[in-house]
Amino acid sequence: MKKPVYLDYNATTPIDEEVAKEMIPYIETFYGNPSSSYQMGKQNKEAIEQARKQVAGLINCKPGEIVFTSGGTESNNIAIKGIAFANKGKGKHIITSSIEHPAVTEVCKYLTKYGFEITYLPVDKYGAVGIDDLEKAIREDTILISIMHANNEVGTIQPIEQISSIAKSKGVFVHTDAAQSVGKIETNITKLGVDLLTIAGHKLYAPKGIGALYIRHGVKVENIIHGASQERGISPGTENVTGIVGLGKACEIAQRNLGKNQRHLLNMRERLLKGLLVELNNIVTVNSDLNNSLPNTLSVAFDKVEAHTLASLISNDILISTGSACHSGLTRISSVLKAMNMNIMTAASTVRISIGKNTTKEEIDFAVSIITNAVNRLL
Ligand SMILES: Cc1ncc(COP(=O)(O)O)c(C=O)c1O
Repeated sequence: MKKPVYLDYNATTPIDEEVAKEMIPYIETFYGNPSSSYQMGKQNKEAIEQARKQVAGLINCKPGEIVFTSGGTESNNIAIKGIAFANKGKGKHIITSSIEHPAVTEVCKYLTKYGFEITYLPVDKYGAVGIDDLEKAIREDTILISIMHANNEVGTIQPIEQISSIAKSKGVFVHTDAAQSVGKIETNITKLGVDLLTIAGHKLYAPKGIGALYIRHGVKVENIIHGASQERGISPGTENVTGIVGLGKACEIAQRNLGKNQRHLLNMRERLLKGLLVELNNIVTVNSDLNNSLPNTLSVAFDKVEAHTLASLISNDILISTGSACHSGLTRISSVLKAMNMNIMTAASTVRISIGKNTTKEEIDFAVSIITNAVNRLL
């Protein structure tokens, strides 16, 4: 077993071997510009279109509805600002949730400078938004609802299908940041019913710095980056062909193995939680609703154990993340845990353990024993 054991797959994932193999020719040999009309250019253009089909296959949309971007952050920016500026004549009200990633909340905050009003929906103790709250929040001038598919810290899955159906009846666009869910659970556009969906490559075993945005056919976004006509002018600039080829392959692999991976992740998470409960039963609090969360994510608090101290104590053996940021001795709890109304002690004791598709039983058992020993030392 290689140490430290990586259990922070919601932060990022390693590049899949098959993905890397697919990318190598585009690093070593095929360097032509996809916009060039000679063969070496055309070859790269074809590779991009093949990847577009692979991404579309995973989320069940048409290839023409996929725009390649530099990642989750750019996709969210294009979706939210693009819809806001294209529809400002209709209204200037946007609804989001109080547990979004900064790649959504900071975009919303920026839009307030241009007269947009933002409603942040509250969440329950597990981080789920309420449909009643959403219905009450929709106004005559609401143009967009942007709610993440699954949360990065606690893994909670939002009722996107219901949200889309309500939004549709009111003529409101829906965007979902699916950076954490694509490749881990089903993200079928037909079922989700959204107009825009964000994909981040590095969360599904593709490289960092590549992503995609699904834009439903016929939905107009105003360009927020200006340049040449690549990616329909929505994400202009010479394409990251190597990254795009990698993302395409990663999506093909994810589609092929979705069911198998989901079962494996659930088994590993169950083994991990069981192990922790056997050893530390009376001090473990599970923060997420395990029946409605990403199969790989376990957010847990160990009573009276400071999460940063724990994570750093075990970092030579296993890598996990915490639910708080620690700056100059002050602990600031995450906005997600705060929105879940978690008491400050539990939040400061919260760690996120996120499992990968290749995580083994041995790694999980090792993590249980390392965490148990460290927690017992810190109590
Ligand atoms: C939910 C969510 N949205 C957006 C992002 C940003 O994606 P990227 O790092 O590809 O810009 C992340 C990454 O941490 C994320 O977890």
